[in-house]
Amino acid sequence: MELKEAKFQQKVEEVLKALEGENYLVEPQRLKKLVEILLRRQKDLVLFSENVKNEHNFSALIRTADAVGVLNIYYTYEGNKTKIYNEHITMGSHKWVFLHKVNNAVETLKKLKEKGFQIVATRLAENSLHFREVDYTKPTVVIVGNELDGVSEEVAQVADFNVVIPMYGMAQSLNVSVATAVILYEAQRQREAKGMYEKPQLTLEEIKNILRKWAYKDIIEDRKRV
Ligand SMILES: C[S@@+](CC[C@H](N)C(=O)[O-])C[C@H]1O[C@@H](n2cnc3c(N)ncnc32)[C@H](O)[C@@H]1O
Repeated sequence: MELKEAKFQQKVEEVLKALEGENYLVEPQRLKKLVEILLRRQKDLVLFSENVKNEHNFSALIRTADAVGVLNIYYTYEGNKTKIYNEHITMGSHKWVFLHKVNNAVETLKKLKEKGFQIVATRLAENSLHFREVDYTKPTVVIVGNELDGVSEEVAQVADFNVVIPMYGMAQSLNVSVATAVILYEAQRQREAKGMYEKPQLTLEEIKNILRKWAYKDIIEDRKRV
């Protein structure tokens, strides 16, 4: 474990060296933290939220995704709010993941499938697999569904697997944000066991692009708001 961490820190130092001369508006310690986060981001673990409407739920999804190392969240939303998360609940996590609103869930999922992602829909159906039976170390999109209607039939059709978290109580289902956490943390467990959090997935160019946003442009925007 210590050796793995030492090797990881060596990579962090290498990236920091390569970033010398770039213009950032954050303290060195903060920049180091951002680099560590980016080196652990799981570009090939994507969350797809199908019309999750409650802002508390959606905010909790974002916060969990950030904690697990997800970089991209795709979502459809059929409500009427312009912003569907709440900063007090995301605790800032919305800044560290990319949110992509899409109009056509099926088209988006098909495109991700063409890029090599397996599509895993969380569904309370009799023929769903136990959620731990899936190998989440493969490039994976996890789909979670609307609070009332769940994952739609058309979206489930695109999925390679439907998975269920067993329910042994009176409640028929979990809150969507809890179900998301259960699945994403299973993915995290499998990926940790394979050492995937020590094998950076983002290229130096991708890291530079993201830092230009996180450590420069976003800060200028924040300053304008004050
Ligand atoms: C409250 S549930 C939706 C319930 C809806 N009546 C249905 O049958 O799908 C909201 C979302 O949470 C996730 N979820 C909740 N409990 C789950 C479970 N036990 N297994 C898998 N996913 C679950 C699914 O993504 C689901 O679409």
